[in-house]
This record gives sequence, structure tokens and C-alpha cells, in this order.
Amino acid sequence: MHADFFRDKVIIVTGASSGIGLASARLFGSYGAKVVMAARRYETLLALAPSVSSDPDRVLCVRTDVAREEDCRALVEATVARFGRIDILVNNAGLSMRAMFKDLDLKVIKTLMDVNFWGTVYCTKYALPWLLEAKGSVVGVISIAGYSALPARAGYSSSKYAIRGFLDTLRIEHLDDGLHVMVFAPGYTASNVRRAALTADGSPQGESPLEEGKLMSAEKCAEYLAKGLYSRKNQMILTPLGRLTVWAHERFPRMVDRLTYSFVAKEAGSPFGKGSAGESQVD
Ligand SMILES: NC(=O)c1ccc[n+]([C@@H]2O[C@H](COP(=O)([O-])OP(=O)(O)OC[C@H]3O[C@@H](n4cnc5c(N)ncnc54)[C@H](OP(=O)(O)O)[C@@H]3O)[C@@H](O)[C@H]2O)c1
Repeated sequence: MHADFFRDKVIIVTGASSGIGLASARLFGSYGAKVVMAARRYETLLALAPSVSSDPDRVLCVRTDVAREEDCRALVEATVARFGRIDILVNNAGLSMRAMFKDLDLKVIKTLMDVNFWGTVYCTKYALPWLLEAKGSVVGVISIAGYSALPARAGYSSSKYAIRGFLDTLRIEHLDDGLHVMVFAPGYTASNVRRAALTADGSPQGESPLEEGKLMSAEKCAEYLAKGLYSRKNQMILTPLGRLTVWAHERFPRMVDRLTYSFVAKEAGSPFGKGSAGESQVD
């Protein structure tokens, strides 16, 4: 069922060199889509491309720093030059952080907004005429932290809330144009995101406070993404804990603030609280 839907569709995936983006690119490739893989690590993309499609004519790698508007424009131009259309844009490239705002070098928030929010805005802006022509889909990969804020993630939560506001607006603007706009919120998913997360001075954290092997796999997350695209859902919130958090945050916000505070305080290496081993709610 999915395979027929995706066959020959032209799909751009940003952040396709790792984690959820790579798993999604591989899934779309296995369905017979023409996949455009975008990320900064171009050599990594080239090395991974055969795992997306064994046919080099059906996969294109484009070196892209989504924080640079010119790169996003060039990504769209390269896609159209090669495949002549764009059916789906998955704005997945993203960066996280972990530090208290009081300790934070402001460049960290700036970087997160540039990559997560502006990267989504730039790619969507340049791809939009093609997506409208195809009556296609634009997706923003946000997070449960884009519905219920996380302490020590001010830049991350802000950027994910902002993407949600942007895409929810875009959906209404194009209600009668056949454009599908989806906000996709994974829960904890095994990937490199926590190792790459920035600390207070902007250097990468280098390790994950969670046992990545116990989290949802990136492949499972990609399957949900494909389901959401196929069903043209407005939003998808993954994991029972993620859905419970969003539901409770709307109804009992003070209780959720308190619970979130104490969960994150117990995270390994947490910048506040005891920092003993434990699990936070969302990321
Ligand atoms: N894993 C989770 O628990 C989780 C939960 C909720 C939401 N998410 C979201 O899921 C998305 C994918 O993250 P992931 O978990 O798969 O993490 P990941 O394994 O660290 O992958 C992040 C991807 O983003 C790319 N990227 C980072 N900065 C970029 C930039 N400036 N320009 C272009 N590409 C850039 C990276 O590629 P290069 O380094 O090669 O550029 C990489 O391919 C993110 O938006 C993240 O916020 C993840």
C-alpha cells in the first residue's frame, strides 16, 4: 500500500546523513521513490546513498547547511534540475542542546533557531511552488518539546514551537490548494541527536544521557512518518508517553511543569537537580 503511494515520488529529506532522516530516506527508497538526501556531511551522504537506492539515477546527494538560505535554494534547484518536480519535503535536519538559559551563550539559541526553524522556513519557501504544483506534502519534524517545554532546552523547545506555528499557519493559508502540511513529533528515538546536542558554550555534548538502545528505533519512527504522509495527517505525536505529555500539558500545565522539572533533574549529567540516572519525559 505504501509502496504504491511513494513509487516515483520525488522526496527531499534534510538531515539524511543520520538517524531519523537516514531511516526515512532508506524507507522511501525501498518504496521506489526518488530520494534527495541533504546534509552538511556530503561524503557521508555519498557513502550512504547506495543503501537508499541501488539505482544511482534514483538518489541525489546535495551538500546542504540548512542554516544557509543559499544552500536551501540550491537544494531545491538541484532537485528540480535532476528530477523535474518535488512531491514531498521532509524538514528533518535538527540540532538539540542541554544547558540552563542562565548559563547559556546566546549563540547556542541563535544556532538552534538558524538550523531548526530557519532551515525549515528556507527549504519550504523555495520548494513551495513545486509542492503546490504537485499538490504534495511538507513536513516539519518537531518534537514533544514543541508542545510541552523542556528545561535546559530553551533553544530547542523554542525552535520546535516556532516550526509548529509556522507550519500550522501555512496549512491554513493553503487549505484550498491541495497542499498537505504535517507537523511530525517523534518521542525519544535512538539517534545521534543527544551526542550532537550543544552545551552552554556551544560545544557538542558528545554523549547521550539515555540508553539509546531502549528508545524507539529510527526505522520505526520512519514508518510512522510514511503512514502520516500516506494518510495526509495534519500532525502525528509519537509514543504513548509523548501523547500523554501533550494531552496532560493542555489540561494540567502546572502539574506537567512540576513533573517535567523533576524528571529532567534526574537525568544523567543534568545541569540542575541531582543529575542522577533517570529518564526525562521528552526530547
Ligand atoms: N532522536 C530523538 O529522540 C528525537 C526526538 C524528537 C525529535 N527529533 C528530531 O528529529 C530530527 C532528526 O534528528 P535525529 O534524532 O535523527 O538526530 P541525528 O541522528 O543527530 O541527525 C540529525 C541530522 O541533521 C543534520 N543536520 C544537523 N545540522 C544541520 C545543518 N545545519 N544543515 C543540514 N543538516 C543538518 C545532520 O547531518 P550533518 O551533521 O551531516 O549536517 C543529521 O543528518 C531533528 O529535527 C530532531 O530534533 C529527534
